[in-house]
Amino acid sequence: MDIAVIGTGYVGLVTGAGLSDFGNDVICVDVDVKKIEALKNGIIPIYEPGLDTLVSKNVSEGRLRFTTDLSEAIRAARAIFIAVGTPPKPDGSADLRYVEEVAHSIAQHMNGPKLVITKSTVPIGTGHMIEQIIESHGTGHKASIVSNPEFLREGSAIEDFMRPDRVVIGASSDEAAELMKEVYAPLHSLEIPFVVTNVESSELIKYAANGFLATKITFINEIAALCEKVGANVHDVAIGMGLDTRIGPKFLQAGPGFGGSCFPKDTSALADIARRHDYDFQIMEAVLRVNDAVKLRMIDKIVAALDGEVEGKTVAMLGLAFKPETDDMRDSPTIPIIQGLQKRGATLRVYDPQAMDNAKKIFNDIVYCEDAYATADGADLLVLATEWNEFRALNFERIRKALRQPSIVDLRNVYEPFRMAGLGFKYTSVGRVDDRRKRTR
Ligand code: UDX
Repeated sequence: MDIAVIGTGYVGLVTGAGLSDFGNDVICVDVDVKKIEALKNGIIPIYEPGLDTLVSKNVSEGRLRFTTDLSEAIRAARAIFIAVGTPPKPDGSADLRYVEEVAHSIAQHMNGPKLVITKSTVPIGTGHMIEQIIESHGTGHKASIVSNPEFLREGSAIEDFMRPDRVVIGASSDEAAELMKEVYAPLHSLEIPFVVTNVESSELIKYAANGFLATKITFINEIAALCEKVGANVHDVAIGMGLDTRIGPKFLQAGPGFGGSCFPKDTSALADIARRHDYDFQIMEAVLRVNDAVKLRMIDKIVAALDGEVEGKTVAMLGLAFKPETDDMRDSPTIPIIQGLQKRGATLRVYDPQAMDNAKKIFNDIVYCEDAYATADGADLLVLATEWNEFRALNFERIRKALRQPSIVDLRNVYEPFRMAGLGFKYTSVGRVDDRRKRTR
């Protein structure tokens, strides 16, 4: 299938590379000349494990190319994937400006029947809106509208694309659905489930899935808060809950609240969609409120570990990205935590294996260090904020010597309380008590 992917952000680039690897001929288009030039030279603008190899393989095998020429890409394609940004507006709703612009461009340049597929996460009704925009141009060519949401996790996006749990296709006609199966032919033959439905249901599936996962995380974060009050251990509670197959063990890791490019944006968009349809989606509204409160609770934890005296103290922070294996700082819980500590007069020393360049665009008044040990040097407290693997097996003897006070606040529950106590640290984590008794029994 000849395919155009419009927008070479995170989703567009992974989609373009993945679809070309499935054997399709893919042109990725972007208005950003610098980005396209870089991609033509094999430079990938984001950090995503395996993406560079996948891009270079498919470019060299002639199935993937990059251009700024939108008209050429539209004319050459049978299927056009829209993967432009849908940033949140101040009221939480998705800004569809770029999607609308692309719909107009498709109508202006189309030279035959086209499948027009939304990959970007768009509010329910956007497929219909795109159809109307294209129809309003009176091109004389048929545009079949499809919604095909992505469920890619940063850090494992390639695997998620190549071996998804399901492929969701919301199509306006049977013919469009069949063509989409052709696009994803290798997945079809791997017997990955295909959910074929109408455009509106498909658009809602994406929000429902992300809203539910965000709710699950928020639920365990509330349980963690309760654990601290009653002397329970959230890790064990999560295992005990998650073994019920109706619940499942995933997304029950308590921490500093969810961040990233999807959950915060999609949960607030879902609440906004409900409001616009005159429905008060109370759970989603609560998830948004609680997630903000979780981040602030992490500040309280750090303040308490400093015995309430933050002014003039130095806090070392390991990890800045919203999760490991990504350089993404979007809505990272570390942002309000750092701001909260700075407001109380703390100085921050930080290190992240990938996200420091992006962090520098947000903070120019924190000290960026070259590794965990340099970060700890002379600090009054160490905060583990993102669970990168390299922080799992630190030399704690070195860390203890580097710190002014042997105190660790572990926002990701990576370390064992009893072990940290044994190493001489004052240790605080999320929703866990020191379970030394249980382990030595
Ligand atoms: C998410 C969805 O998983 C993906 O399907 C969708 O397409 C895009 O949004 P992503 O944002 O890359 O992917 O990260 P994910 O691994 O889902 O984590 C999101 C946030 O939740 C992170 O801040 C993470 O630290 C947090 N999280 C996740 C928890 O706090 N606890 C958990 O148990 C799981």
